[in-house]
Amino acid sequence: MTDLLAQPLALPCGARLPNRLCKAAMTEGLADPQLRPTERHVALYRRWAEGGAGLLLTGNVQIDRRVLERPANVALDPAPPDAETLRRLRAWSRAGTSAGNHLWMQISHAGRQSPWYVTREPLAPSPVQLKLLANYAKPRALREEEILDFIQRYARVAATAREAGFTGVQIHAAHGYLLSSFLSPVTNRRTDAWGGSLENRARMLIETIRATRKAVGADFPVSVKLNSDDFRKGGFTHEECLQVVRWLNDERLDLLELSGGTYEQPRLLGYAGKDADATPQRASTRQREAYFLDYATDVRRIATMPLMVTGGFRTRAGIEEALGGGAVDVVGLGRPLCGEPDLPKRLLARQIDALPRYEKRMQLGPGILGPTTKVFLFRLINVFGQQGWYYLQLYRLADGLGPNLKLGVFGAFWRYLADEYRQAWRMHRARRHS
Ligand SMILES: Cc1cc2nc3c(=O)[nH]c(=O)nc-3n(C[C@H](O)[C@H](O)[C@H](O)COP(=O)(O)O)c2cc1C
Repeated sequence: MTDLLAQPLALPCGARLPNRLCKAAMTEGLADPQLRPTERHVALYRRWAEGGAGLLLTGNVQIDRRVLERPANVALDPAPPDAETLRRLRAWSRAGTSAGNHLWMQISHAGRQSPWYVTREPLAPSPVQLKLLANYAKPRALREEEILDFIQRYARVAATAREAGFTGVQIHAAHGYLLSSFLSPVTNRRTDAWGGSLENRARMLIETIRATRKAVGADFPVSVKLNSDDFRKGGFTHEECLQVVRWLNDERLDLLELSGGTYEQPRLLGYAGKDADATPQRASTRQREAYFLDYATDVRRIATMPLMVTGGFRTRAGIEEALGGGAVDVVGLGRPLCGEPDLPKRLLARQIDALPRYEKRMQLGPGILGPTTKVFLFRLINVFGQQGWYYLQLYRLADGLGPNLKLGVFGAFWRYLADEYRQAWRMHRARRHS
């Protein structure tokens, strides 16, 4: 029987992925106070490279050091960077490709989803504040010249990635960050050429892809991560996603990754946000382990580029269903690889058929703190605490340790907050002294 997971994949640009498993992008929080990569990135990505996935995506690398998704993001601003930053990037890319696998840099701007302890002035299409745990300041609307500058920044960071030995790039246009917030009518209320019609809302994404392709050349993988749906009332819909994919067909993309949701509706992680704000998920999706496979099947009907879907895959059967049914070409895995980096290798060697479901293990009783709890604040603490749990496990991997499965979701929540504030303080202090 041919092993679907182990099949190589030829990409339109001529590159080849050695197999169909991808370590999905996961923000590392490992940068130094100057927002440069460190030895811990090197150690973490060496472990993931040895872990067997044909493709590793980095966590979101920022194009704007003022507005980060987290305090210890890597930011390539200015790009191209100085010689020392380039040296560190090269060390990262060498380790992250050490098993003959691909390592693509995910490039992003956090937009309105940048916490107050990073910036008091997030930047967004329109001044629509993210109201979540009082954690985000009101954003300022971007001026047109800033939009044009940001498009070039994505491209320059992509060129830097190539120069530094990364083997591809991914433009992050999902999860409510800047490009995704331009796509949504809730967060993009502009009346100029960058807002209003879907064509206008998608303009920044399309221009960013074009500038990036121009900067890296025809023979280098360029990917986009896109929401299949925001799952939010008034947000970017699945029908709009399908139309954007039709336009993306003309942009010579090498891989389109599908995800979904934003901070308000964190469906990317299988959680719902405020009920009043949510749009329903399809029943067939709820029954499946993979969150967005049905949506990917719709996209497959019109997309001409290779497709990847990420979110919820926890069994070989689920992965094979997605690959074998022809809906997607690559499957992304995130949270399981925060605990055990070599799961892809073990899947490929047929040593295991299931992946750990840490998200289930952590729920403190579904009716109380699980995703179904009616108390929204608890639900939020659960989601943030779980994110903190994964962050802390990534730190352990970067330090050469195994996962700490005794850590609880409440403990992780407080440690995560303390760590974020400490990192932010170090970053601001470094900025003052530079
Ligand atoms: C700790 C953590 C960090 C993440 N950081 C990013 C990121 O930087 N960029 C991104 O596109 N998605 C990010 N995600 C979302 C994952 O890429 C993925 O879409 C999500 O975890 C669902 O896949 P899974 O069910 O296999 O975990 C992150 C998820 C986790 C758990």
